[in-house]
Amino acid sequence: MQILVTGGTGYIGSHTVVELLKSGKEVVIVDNLSNSSKNVIDNIEKITNKKCKFYEIDIRDEKGLEKVFEENDIEAVIHFAGLKAVGESVVKPLEYYDNNVIGTIKLLEVMKKFVCKKMVFSSSATVYGDPGNPKYVEDMGRGKASSPYGATKAVIEEMLESLYIADNEWTISLLRYFNPIGAHESGLIGENPNGIPNNLMPYIQKVAIGELKELSIFGDNYNTKDGTCIRDYIHVVDLAVGHMKALQKLNKPGVYIHNLGTGAGTSVLDIVKTFEKVNNIKVNYKFAPRRAGDLPEFFADPSKAKSELDWEAKRGIEEMCRDSWNFISKNRNS
Ligand code: NAD
Ligand code: UD1
Repeated sequence: MQILVTGGTGYIGSHTVVELLKSGKEVVIVDNLSNSSKNVIDNIEKITNKKCKFYEIDIRDEKGLEKVFEENDIEAVIHFAGLKAVGESVVKPLEYYDNNVIGTIKLLEVMKKFVCKKMVFSSSATVYGDPGNPKYVEDMGRGKASSPYGATKAVIEEMLESLYIADNEWTISLLRYFNPIGAHESGLIGENPNGIPNNLMPYIQKVAIGELKELSIFGDNYNTKDGTCIRDYIHVVDLAVGHMKALQKLNKPGVYIHNLGTGAGTSVLDIVKTFEKVNNIKVNYKFAPRRAGDLPEFFADPSKAKSELDWEAKRGIEEMCRDSWNFISKNRNS
């Protein structure tokens, strides 16, 4: 029996594949390589000393997916494949709905056909919208999405809940990630987006290696301890382990929702200062106006994941900053 990982050559997917292989699972990856490259497979194999099967397929290609299910004995799917750039989704909403929502429908149809009814889905803290309390708890429900990207996550969550109501043989885990950063300690896999990054840590990394001149810190007058925004940053390896735990619990039909965060809020300035300190490197920055749509502060209540999945994040901000630097300094684009 194998685990199918869609988007398995991407940032979070690749770290999860490493954990799966390390735990003795057999893994099949499906990825269209729209935001990753094939050499990630070599690096996963270098880290684990194990092989995984790879299909370069788009999840909207039903025939291609059927072939994957015919050639393998898939017991469950961890579904990462999707587009994730918030700003781009505002400009290209239809591409986001097509890729993320239609892609998930195609995948579910093929899973249904092959009677594989277990899925772990990559959701996001963005589905909470702005609940008016910075500590997000699963029973707050979904709020108004602040972008088409966020809306695709909320729609897919709803769709999966409806699917279970219609056919209660499905076992579905919705994992709501907070802000994943860091990289595998080997420096072989991590996040290195092409072009100008949108997210904080990839931007810091590019400033630190000299590819970008300076970081703009969006807002210095929020009502927080140092005026900059607060988020719940989580090490990508902790996140990957969370998927393993969720997978192990897929033994009773239902829809289960869990936050994957540390529970601790960290400011933008804290991240910059910690990155400088642990890596002994300067990160040039300036304060810039607030970014539209940013909330001053949010972080996870991770207690449900602890009690139900027996999972909690173990790695702190220093380790996240050290591993992010280790990865980027070994994987410069030029
Ligand atoms: P990523 O872009 O690194 O990985 C996604 C992978 O999916 C890529 O390898 C890409 O090539 C592949 N892909 C995209 N569309 C596909 C398609 N139609 N068919 C096949 N493959 C396709 O992103 P990530 O950071 O690893 O995120 C993984 C998932 O987690 C995404 O669904 C994302 O929305 C979600 N998520 C990410 C974050 C984050 O901060 N990174 C936060 C919350 C949720
Ligand atoms: C963003 C997305 C969210 C997604 C999450 C994880 C938005 C509005 N939200 O969240 O949907 O789930 O990424 O991928 O984009 N910052 C700077 N300078 C920069 C970049 C970021 O100061 O160049 C600040 C931001 O203002 C924010 C913090 O750093 O306060 C984190 O930003 P980012 O990494 O983009 O994540 P989020 O905005 O939390």
